[in-house]
Amino acid sequence: MRPLIAGNWKMNGLGAEGVALARAVREGLGDGNGVDVLLCPPFTLIERVARAVAGSAIAVGGQDCHPKASGAHTGDVSAPMLKDAGASFVILGHSERRADHGETDALVRAKAEAAVAAGLTPIVCVGETLAERDAGRAEAVVEAQLAGSLPEGFARAGGVVAYEPVWAIGTGRTPSEADIAAMHAAIRARLVARFGAAGRGVRILYGGSVKAANAKPILAVPEVGGALVGGASLQAAEFLAIIAAAPVAVA
Ligand code: PGA
Repeated sequence: MRPLIAGNWKMNGLGAEGVALARAVREGLGDGNGVDVLLCPPFTLIERVARAVAGSAIAVGGQDCHPKASGAHTGDVSAPMLKDAGASFVILGHSERRADHGETDALVRAKAEAAVAAGLTPIVCVGETLAERDAGRAEAVVEAQLAGSLPEGFARAGGVVAYEPVWAIGTGRTPSEADIAAMHAAIRARLVARFGAAGRGVRILYGGSVKAANAKPILAVPEVGGALVGGASLQAAEFLAIIAAAPVAVA
């Protein structure tokens, strides 16, 4: 399985700096190296970033989409619109959207269905809060999120899961490698139980305070199929160093 290193720019980037960042990643990456690379800029930059990386191995993704393809939903953006703008992936159910916009598992599932129908690869985020981990409920919370957020056919459609403990996002704190390994093994077991053999092929990304300095050991943890990188994806050199730390897939 090829690792996937995805940059989640969140609500950061105006035109010139966003395009410059995408170009710098493109130039630093060269031909690519057995690692899939994805940039997820804000909606306003998808088309410009897609143009900046056109012809390279870098893919572009959105950070959310509406469950409907079109209609009276002021301010929302649909999956076919993302696709039309040049995206091939979309991040769904990020903990910031679950918290800021009250997104439920059922809504995330509907969005993932819309993404697949539009020909986008969904990256569905799951992860526990610190209180849930301290209460010993981390795996139960994540398993419930998986059960509720992943639509039928998710694995066959090439869907990606991102495990992002809420307390590790933007905090500089990361779980131990043993904790990451345990959670990723639990997620893999749920995926195989639900989707059978196709569940073995789902990439499971780790996200939460990944940076160049900690990427290598995290990306070497069994069942970690890449990283979803927030803050550190806003600096080309830092993001490129994370990509370089990914174990290259053997054919
Ligand atoms: P972070 O964010 O790398 O800044 O912790 C990760 C994410 O929210 O996807």
